Amino acid sequence: MANIIIIGMQWGDEGKGKIVDLLTEFADVVVRFQGGNNAGHTVVVGQQTVILHLIPSGALYPEKKCLIGNGVVVDPQVLLGEMDELQKRGYFKNDDQLLISEDAHLIMPYHRRMDVARERMKGEGKIGTTGRGIGPAYEDKAAREGIRFGDLLDEEAFREKLKANLSVKNPCLETCLHDKGFDLEAIFQEYIGYAGRLKKYVGNTSVFIDRQMKQGRHILFEGAQGTHLDVDHGTYPFVTSSNTVAGGACTGAGIGPTKISEVIGVSKAYTTRVGGGPFPTELKDEVGEKLRERGREFGATTGRPRRCGWVDIPLLKDAIRLNGLTGIALTKMDVLSEFETIRICTSYRYQGQRYEEVPSPAKVLQECQPVYEEIPGWKAELKNIRNFEDLPPRARDYVRHVEELTDTEVILVSVGERREETILRRNPFRHGPRKS
Ligand code: IMP
Repeated sequence: MANIIIIGMQWGDEGKGKIVDLLTEFADVVVRFQGGNNAGHTVVVGQQTVILHLIPSGALYPEKKCLIGNGVVVDPQVLLGEMDELQKRGYFKNDDQLLISEDAHLIMPYHRRMDVARERMKGEGKIGTTGRGIGPAYEDKAAREGIRFGDLLDEEAFREKLKANLSVKNPCLETCLHDKGFDLEAIFQEYIGYAGRLKKYVGNTSVFIDRQMKQGRHILFEGAQGTHLDVDHGTYPFVTSSNTVAGGACTGAGIGPTKISEVIGVSKAYTTRVGGGPFPTELKDEVGEKLRERGREFGATTGRPRRCGWVDIPLLKDAIRLNGLTGIALTKMDVLSEFETIRICTSYRYQGQRYEEVPSPAKVLQECQPVYEEIPGWKAELKNIRNFEDLPPRARDYVRHVEELTDTEVILVSVGERREETILRRNPFRHGPRKS
């Protein structure tokens, strides 16, 4: 039995969708445990590109069970749209494939409107959210005002909760945020309609996972966003509203930390970020433009151009510490093939001092200057390489250098977007971590 968490090591968009999809072959159950449809996991299978926002990437294997844990915030309209789209493409034909936690919170129309209106009011100081209502939904959860899937299945309880919420949200939207309020009956009917379609999928995901573990099944926990967007440990306030680090898998899926076998971190061979916030290695020149173009760095959820820069070792070292990582999956190595020289940020300089770790607060990180090492590029196409030994020597050196600098094993190198364009050095479902 192996229970493995996959986490993003940077600011999201590291290519987790591909890694989860690849490793799902060896798992029985795939679980989403935080975030919502702010995520966009791109998976390329054959000629098809599938972008998943809520349903775990495991959905592309018909025999694998997909779970949406209690820690996820779910927009039911988006979930149903995604299910319909998958079914149209020939996936997700069996109702038994999906189980949604009865304790997962719902994203309501007022959450979306509040998210967008607040960003508008913040002007220059905005966070750059995805506008999907994620923050307001998690706020209601913490304020104990949220509406959960379980509530939706009880019409009277749902009506009462919705009424109580609108009595606060409508004045807030109209008076403070200068926007429009909502009609109770319209939302009630809309959401009861969603309940009719979704109730067969709702249940106790924690109990389900526990039973699966007792039967020796392999479980894959699929993180969304990335370590540095974590509400506690990220570049606050430029973060999302959930715990994106590995610990979030325990609270967001209802399992104990002793059940986790390994935590694998996914990092691009360079760095990207969408939205506002500090980014020490950001390149605002033609090199950054080249990374964006070659890496097709445009958001899978909002289509926004991603900010691009060189790989940042302090950022990765923080992710290793915060998640207790046992291995790294290094993605998009092929994107670096075009560069004569490649830079690696090994530390930061701030007010004459050297930092090997990410300093807090975000204001300090904003002013940190990256200290770079420059190494020669390999200038060769990597897409058809399947064994580590067949990589050009300089590409191998790059991977080994990342291992040395982070003191962590790179278990996988991704050299293209397709499943098969991967060099798997160690399969965590088959072999445990290397002993140091
Ligand atoms: P929110 O999660 O929509 O509230 O957005 C908060 C911040 O997290 C913004 O900077 C978003 O761009 C960023 N963010 C949220 N989800 C993702 C993701 O899946 N990938 C990358 N960035 C994300």
